[in-house]
Amino acid sequence: MPPASPPRRGPRPPRVLVFDSGLGGLTVLGEVDRVRPEAERAYVADDAVFPYGDLPEPALVARVLDVLAPLVDRIRPDAVVVACNTASTAVLPPLRARWPELAVVGTVPAVKPAAAASATRRIAVLATPGTVARDYTRDLVRAFAGDCAVDLVGAKRLAALAEAALRGEGLDDAEVLAEIAPAFVDRDGRRTDTVVLACTHYPLLVDVFARVAPWPVAYLDPAPAIARRLDAVLAERGFAAARDAPLRPGPVVFTSGRAPGPALARALAARGLVPA
Ligand code: DGL
Repeated sequence: MPPASPPRRGPRPPRVLVFDSGLGGLTVLGEVDRVRPEAERAYVADDAVFPYGDLPEPALVARVLDVLAPLVDRIRPDAVVVACNTASTAVLPPLRARWPELAVVGTVPAVKPAAAASATRRIAVLATPGTVARDYTRDLVRAFAGDCAVDLVGAKRLAALAEAALRGEGLDDAEVLAEIAPAFVDRDGRRTDTVVLACTHYPLLVDVFARVAPWPVAYLDPAPAIARRLDAVLAERGFAAARDAPLRPGPVVFTSGRAPGPALARALAARGLVPA
């Protein structure tokens, strides 16, 4: 018998919905665009409820399901990318249970690569307060960084600062430094050499981090790994990649209904997003 070939979905490109509480998921969209430029993609920012960092878990799960339900009905995506660590700590099983036919790709803090790369054996996980508190993150640390000193740092305002920067508002370096400083630890002969960016907003500020940080470290962004995972699940579903395809403009949905200001509108347009 000839080997079974993967199911073919015909010539249509995959439909991908990228979701975050706000604009942080744009850092993931950029990588998705690199590996799957042919995708019909839509971006959803739940700015009506942003930030998710302090939401209790049941409220978070209910909110994400409420936001996604009408969009899944309307857009009929082949895959949903939960481009938010905070949401991914809680919503992936409920999403998969609600839409079993949908590929759900979540965001996993890069604890494993950080532990593998650290020479000093001290790493930090910089995230929202919700992400650092959840078992999802603590289990990752236990499983993959058992022989490292790991500092879990819940930053209260950093995601909002990243949003402000993207809106073209000025950034106060001292405020950024106050948020990231607890991730830099020099204790017991081990100094932090690797910081896991465990909130998709933070790569938006990585140049600022590098400028204001007490010493240089490696910053790990999960976006390339998320995009690779999406690429693999789409391929499993019969969607061959077209790496050289031109990027398709796609809609951006803000749950607040607010129109983006000029600086943000430019940043969105530069990423091929147009207000829905
Ligand atoms: N971008 C989100 C994350 O990756 C969080 C921002 C927030 O809503 O607090 O965790």
